[in-house]
Amino acid sequence: MSSGNAKLWGGRFAESTSALVEKFSESVSFDSRLYRQDIRGSQAHARMLAKVGVLGTEDAERIVAGLDAILERIESGQFEWSEKLEDVHMNIEARLTEDIGDAGKRLHTGRSRNDQVATDLRLYVRDVIDDLAELIGRLEGALLDLAEREADTVMPGFTHLQIAQPVTFGHHMLAWREQILRDRSRLLDCRKRLNLLPLGSAALAGTVYPIDRHYTAGLLGFDGVTENSLDTVSDRDFAIEFCAAAGLILVHLSRWSEELILWSTPMFGFVDLPDRFCTGSSIMPQKKNPDVPELVRGKTGRVIGNLQALLVLMKGQPLAYNRDNQEDKPPLFDTVDTVSMCLQVYAEMVPHIAVKRDNCRAAAAKGFSTATDLADYLVKKGLPFRDAHHAVGSAVGYAAQKGCDLSELSLEELRQFSPLVEKDVYERITLEGSLNARNHYGATAPAQVRAAIARARAARGA
Ligand code: ARG
Repeated sequence: MSSGNAKLWGGRFAESTSALVEKFSESVSFDSRLYRQDIRGSQAHARMLAKVGVLGTEDAERIVAGLDAILERIESGQFEWSEKLEDVHMNIEARLTEDIGDAGKRLHTGRSRNDQVATDLRLYVRDVIDDLAELIGRLEGALLDLAEREADTVMPGFTHLQIAQPVTFGHHMLAWREQILRDRSRLLDCRKRLNLLPLGSAALAGTVYPIDRHYTAGLLGFDGVTENSLDTVSDRDFAIEFCAAAGLILVHLSRWSEELILWSTPMFGFVDLPDRFCTGSSIMPQKKNPDVPELVRGKTGRVIGNLQALLVLMKGQPLAYNRDNQEDKPPLFDTVDTVSMCLQVYAEMVPHIAVKRDNCRAAAAKGFSTATDLADYLVKKGLPFRDAHHAVGSAVGYAAQKGCDLSELSLEELRQFSPLVEKDVYERITLEGSLNARNHYGATAPAQVRAAIARARAARGA
């Protein structure tokens, strides 16, 4: 048997691959990161082949043990990856055959790299989702602690970035928590949909061997098997869904970052970020820059770009497998690395955010943040809301000109705007009065923040 091409698939080729094309088409430089999933998948496939009698038990055992040995070699840095062998799959298979001989050559029976890579990727995204879900849990814990510490801290709540109504800092932290809890549940939704076994789809049409896909699925912890072989080898929806969910995680972290960046300027002065999360300026000695949140905000662009890359990668592909799909990995891996780093730095930074309570309070006291409370007070005394709104607007104009807060106006002054105002108004238009009045499920009163934290901790089982 003579062949002009020594590749695993080289039989029908008269000449060897151009060095340039080899360089151009290899993927092992990035897909070697799938080695664990590739080995797990191959071991399950071999066991299944033995179970249905396509492979001898001894061969299957040799394959499983040989792959274990390769795994060890990879993890201890002793495995030599070769670009000539194209991708992670062929690197491992070629080494296995070198190590154990003919049994290694039988592993690829009833399988194609097309269903193999689909399996590896699903296992990989599943593993990543499990890691990220745990990281989000850690970050959630940090937010709950901070919310508890600052349950009574008054700060301005904003709409249009203008001071709107007083809120508690704890309430604000719990808002952040809601965002990442939805993010986690989106990841877990994606996990449910992807957790089906592709193996058995083979190149595109299935295989002639009497395989038992459900058995393989069980070995790999899949909930079942995919329905259609053509769809299975071409489907990368799960990676796209994952990248969309990851994009939203970063959109959320980016919004937090924007707030922290603003809050840590002297003009806001709401928080102090720990020195070890900031950097200085090489020219301005006074500078302490919030680089970590800035980088998170910046990296969000990359992750959104990765999602875009995957969507565009798919849009022109006819069924079934196309080599285009090899290009799914760099954006996917970059997304995984970026999102997991950003979650980690946030989980480490959040516990050390120092809240400057006096400044938060002073800011809330400045912007007529209890004007709505005064209007609600008048409504309770019988004035229609629109009239109350107008009366309070005039009072705000008056106080602004005088340069004081509504709560600093005398009773006589306030009564100019509505005779319904009485002495009890002052309990309502202080910051605490305003906060405590918003005392229902989901609102900002310190008591409600504490109740929300208690519910959250119970849900966490801690
Ligand atoms: N490296 C390839 C990928 O990532 C593996 C599948 C290759 N299949 C093929 N028929 N060339 O998609």
